[in-house]
Amino acid sequence: MRLRRSRCLTCYWHDNAFVVHPHPHGTPTALHPAAAEILAAFEDWSTPGEAAGRLGHLTPDTVQEAVTTLVRSGALLARGSEAARRDEQIAGLWGAWMPEASFFHYATQDVYDAQPGGDPPHDTGDPPGDTGNPPGDTGDPPGVAGDANAEASVEAPPPPLFTGHPQAPRLLLPRRPAGLGTPFGEVLYDRRTHRDFTGAPVSLETLATLLAVVFGPVDFIDCGRGALYRRTSPQGGSRQEIDAYVGVLGVSGLAPGWYHYDGLRHGLEMLSEGLTPAEAAHLCAGQSWAERPAFLVVLAARLERMSVKYPTPRAYRVCLLDAGHLGQTFALTATALGLGPAQTGAFRDSAVAGRCGLDDTGHTPLYVLAAGHPAPTPQDAPPPAGIPAFASTTLLDP
Ligand SMILES: Cc1cc2nc3c(=O)[nH]c(=O)nc-3n(C[C@H](O)[C@H](O)[C@H](O)COP(=O)(O)O)c2cc1C
Repeated sequence: MRLRRSRCLTCYWHDNAFVVHPHPHGTPTALHPAAAEILAAFEDWSTPGEAAGRLGHLTPDTVQEAVTTLVRSGALLARGSEAARRDEQIAGLWGAWMPEASFFHYATQDVYDAQPGGDPPHDTGDPPGDTGNPPGDTGDPPGVAGDANAEASVEAPPPPLFTGHPQAPRLLLPRRPAGLGTPFGEVLYDRRTHRDFTGAPVSLETLATLLAVVFGPVDFIDCGRGALYRRTSPQGGSRQEIDAYVGVLGVSGLAPGWYHYDGLRHGLEMLSEGLTPAEAAHLCAGQSWAERPAFLVVLAARLERMSVKYPTPRAYRVCLLDAGHLGQTFALTATALGLGPAQTGAFRDSAVAGRCGLDDTGHTPLYVLAAGHPAPTPQDAPPPAGIPAFASTTLLDP
């Protein structure tokens, strides 16, 4: 039988063991680190005998023994097998995203099939009692439990619900909400990503309303082990692991600089003074539009708030999904307030973390949002697609 190393293979040390972890459906297997050498001998289709020939210092029996384990784990694939075909296909399709993205995606997939019972355990941020869900479905965030050890963490002291910077100079924000009366349908269809702004400062009331609506608590619930809060966006397990840091460029009454939004007190905590348009663009990976909004908002995850409840790597997916929900609510609310919203996944992570005073270990940036007064006739709005554009587009699978 000819075998080859899976193209979708990640090896690492975990708990002092060398682990060979093929994806999508391989079994993470702890092996002697010599397994790496044996895997290296299977770059191309080879028999175990041929591989042993290339590994002169290992006996054929040792190689054969390792091969048996590596085949069982899915790290070595048989020529002509369905697993080998899928492996080629994934390697081709995920291409440049491999190994980082494909490993995370597949290594956190189908976790409920592996656990006894197959359903997420009842470990939930939802209030005890009637959740309105069918029996056996507590309404826990889809995809975050899935770990037989999830209960083990329940006793760990939970981190504070709100991030605070007690030493920072503080500004309590106005509480009179700026108008949010734009009809919902108009808001939905008027929302666009803006990259062209007038440069006029945004009023403090408008910024305060936007922050309160998107990031402030709406209500507090009893999860059975204490209080949690909810926002206008759904957030996995109501963990509210995402904090908002505001980079002010042009807001009336606020000096340019970096602030943390304190949702509990509805205030801004000043972290560092000074933010120039050039720095804003630099932080946003050199995108020139980021010079012109009135402010940036960095969404930073305090991972412990999520991991203390959900000790499974899949919960990191939920952090990213939560950031997306907040981003959408931000965009819609900014639109309703007459602002032009923008967002970017392209930013200089470490520099952004540094400016927000984040340690970038347990507290790390995920997403950068922005808003300002939109230019009435944006210079860089894409033209509508005409017949030539459709002519060069494949609309459907042939
Ligand atoms: C997660 C995410 C990341 C984005 N990153 C960028 C970016 O780095 N730079 C940019 O100019 N626009 C970025 N955008 C904006 C998109 O280009 C924009 O949403 C898209 O062109 C559709 O336009 P619309 O938002 O007006 O519907 C991003 C949008 C999302 C949702």
